[in-house]
Amino acid sequence: IPVDPFDLVIFGITGDLARRKILPGLFHRALVGQLPEGARVIGSARSDMEQSEFQDMVRNSLLEFAPGTAADTDALNAFLDKLSYVRVDATGGGGWSELAKLLRPDVIRAFYLSVSPSLFGPIAASLNTHGIATPQSRIVVEKPFGHDLETARSLNAELRRNFDEHQIYRIDHYLGKETVQNLMALRFANSLWEPLWNATHIDHVQITVAESIGVGGRGDYYDRSGAMRDMVQNHLMQLLCLTAMEPPSKLSPNAVRDEKVKVIEALEPVAQDDIVRGQYRQAAGNDSYVDHVGNPDSRTESFVAMKVNIGNWRWAGTPFYLRTGKKLRARCSEIVVMFRDPPHMIFPKLEGRRGNALIIRLQPDEGITLRTTIKEPGPGGLRLAEVTLDMTFADALSDGAEAQDAYERLIMDVIRGDQTLFMRGDEVEAAWEWADPLIAGWAEAHQRPHPYDAGGSGPEDALMLLHRDGRRWREMDRADRKDIP
Ligand code: BG6
Repeated sequence: IPVDPFDLVIFGITGDLARRKILPGLFHRALVGQLPEGARVIGSARSDMEQSEFQDMVRNSLLEFAPGTAADTDALNAFLDKLSYVRVDATGGGGWSELAKLLRPDVIRAFYLSVSPSLFGPIAASLNTHGIATPQSRIVVEKPFGHDLETARSLNAELRRNFDEHQIYRIDHYLGKETVQNLMALRFANSLWEPLWNATHIDHVQITVAESIGVGGRGDYYDRSGAMRDMVQNHLMQLLCLTAMEPPSKLSPNAVRDEKVKVIEALEPVAQDDIVRGQYRQAAGNDSYVDHVGNPDSRTESFVAMKVNIGNWRWAGTPFYLRTGKKLRARCSEIVVMFRDPPHMIFPKLEGRRGNALIIRLQPDEGITLRTTIKEPGPGGLRLAEVTLDMTFADALSDGAEAQDAYERLIMDVIRGDQTLFMRGDEVEAAWEWADPLIAGWAEAHQRPHPYDAGGSGPEDALMLLHRDGRRWREMDRADRKDIP
């Protein structure tokens, strides 16, 4: 879908996210011809920078983070021509009138706040007081959206003082991932799954977002947050909502988001016994979490697994098991929908049978797998075997369709004015309302997370969380799956 001319102002243009994701994303859109002639990007930060210094910074970012694409120098130069820089002091008041002069009166205005959440309020207010924000302008904010319910509420209040909800785009980049959007297509563009998509036919659901990387250079932030705030309250919650929600009446932002909020509101409180927190320790040549964050007494979790029940008609009796963590054995994000066994088996028992499962792989190697049982081919009686029906997006898209990064998609949606893949204020608050008591529960108990080896599969207790229910996690590392599809 073509987009109209726009002025996109990016606050925090010299920051990591802008250099790593936003600029490469925009450049890629330019390369595939999706930026209109009248597209302009205005970078802003606190430092003084000449236009040439700014262009060098952008060029270097693209060479570093979009190396293949940035080699096209003509395209790179054409992209740089669309960019300009203005110094704005978000708290001090300088630079706003210069910014106002750069903006054109009759094009879409979007303000991307790639800055600390403490600046959301002041920037939103300044955009208003300096007459820069128009009723059609959009404001985009990044996570973390609050540290708990109270801080999320005040961020919402600060933004809403200056912008209407329909102008506010809260990013959860998981919603921009191709496979995550495909979850909606899979569920609601096929008649095959919906009759089975309930507690009668589904035994349980596993949602895993395992990362092999550690906390990187974000130790300070991470140690104040932990896996629950950093990943579960937002990314895993979104995956849970898209898996569990009722079919929306239409593909409109509010119809979809209404259904997601209903799921969050139906979540039952999670007992502390149903949560396992972990923290990686030194192993296999990796340093420990406490070394990485430089806090020897840290009780922050770098891993969390939990059993979540959704108290509604569709899901009562079908638990959702969530787990996520850093420094795990493999990078693997997937949703496993495990179907119930046939009610009556007429065949000899298949040792190690895993059962029917629909596996939605978000990354890496995006695709969908259906595990099914067949007769083992060949003579020698009727013996069963499990096989998979596989679809990888790389193959399905091999006819030249371009994969897009989550950020590219989301930025273009902002310009198009489509909020479907952005979190509504009440949705974020509902997710914190659910998460806060769990966090308070382990804080009150002064609980220490269970240690697990860096490069391992997480703490033993996380395996027990399923074992005690007679279930098991799907291995996060392909190599461990051996001949089990
Ligand atoms: C971010 C978290 O939101 O998501 C990071 O803050 C995490 O800690 C990242 O590493 C994971 O994103 P992706 O797209 O690499 O799965």
